Amino acid sequence: MYNIPQAQEKFAALIEAQKKRVTAMREQGDFVDYQSLNQIIIGICGGDGIGPTITKEAQRVLAFLLKDAVAQGKVAFREIDGLTIENRAAHLKAIPDDVLQELKACHVILKGPTTTPRAGDEWPNIESANVAMRKELDLFANVRPVKVPEQGIDWTFFRENTEGAYTLGSCGFETEDGISIDFTVTTTDGTQRIAELAYDYANRNGKKRVSIVTKANIVKETDGKFLRLCQEVAKRYPDITTDDWYIDIMTAKLVDEKRRKDFSVFVLPNLYGDIITDEAAEFQGGVGTAGSGNIGKRYAMFEAIHGSAPRMVQEGRAQYADPCSMLRASVMLLSHIGYQEEANKLERALDICMFEEKALTVTGRDTGCTCNEFGDYVMRTIAAL
Ligand code: IPM
Ligand code: MG
Repeated sequence: MYNIPQAQEKFAALIEAQKKRVTAMREQGDFVDYQSLNQIIIGICGGDGIGPTITKEAQRVLAFLLKDAVAQGKVAFREIDGLTIENRAAHLKAIPDDVLQELKACHVILKGPTTTPRAGDEWPNIESANVAMRKELDLFANVRPVKVPEQGIDWTFFRENTEGAYTLGSCGFETEDGISIDFTVTTTDGTQRIAELAYDYANRNGKKRVSIVTKANIVKETDGKFLRLCQEVAKRYPDITTDDWYIDIMTAKLVDEKRRKDFSVFVLPNLYGDIITDEAAEFQGGVGTAGSGNIGKRYAMFEAIHGSAPRMVQEGRAQYADPCSMLRASVMLLSHIGYQEEANKLERALDICMFEEKALTVTGRDTGCTCNEFGDYVMRTIAAL
């Protein structure tokens, strides 16, 4: 509990830290050119709960697709242990220092879900490993595709990934008289870069509409800035229709079967993006089916959009976990490092296995096939393409 002068001091330190972050953002070079690297190192991080099971399966499929590239030394896998909740709790750190170093020695990372502690559970209330990794590696764009072809849904969410309610989510404090305060941060540089990435993506992929989603009528400073700066970037793309929505009505419109087909690309602050992408993934078959790319200029990390499902492990069902989220994340990883043909094959095979042929299904229980059997099914399907 702080008195006002102490709170002011704490607040000043938070602003100083954000100034440093903005300076670092400005000093960053351009995106890595993967084609110019002698070898692309893919870090594999299992995580917690069902994480190791589904990540191992995705790695097996990736290794199958990249067999030649690995044999030629163009691609190498590097397994990184130590991102488990036990190890993080032992070090009282979201990402222990040696693990962070190992992550930074990779170019891209495939990461299984990691347990996020909260007050009152069995773990120390340390910061989320996901959030810490996004910050440490400056993975500013969380790109989340959702597709339901038969319903005309083809959405790509560009969720800002390092700012908003997440930046200082572990830095709030209580002042006298029971006043608890958290902070939300929107920077000019941070907003411009996510807006530019979203519009550039829309432009390169022939997408006709970008929807900016905020709550700028209420959260006037930070969301107001986000909206204004996105609209400024939009002016450079006169062929793309830009509209802006408040998060509440957008959440409703996503269930409106008549309207939702019209949406294409979304750009939105961190917390709204977190919430609405779970809703969107539900139309596609649930969060277990959705992958995501966390993209920065130097690093990129690909992961599931769901958590570590500790209950499945407690109930002895881990081997029945659905690897589809990690396989979808692997499609994005392959495409990101320039292996587009392999990405297309995996995407096609997943569509066949998940939606068209469905010779095997994963249900999360012994009523369906195991994670491993599904991985084999996907590889058989790729081989038959
Ligand atoms: C996500 C997750 C994470 C988030 C959690 C696990 C920290 O919900 O990737 O959407 O809140 O960003
Ligand atoms: Mg989420």
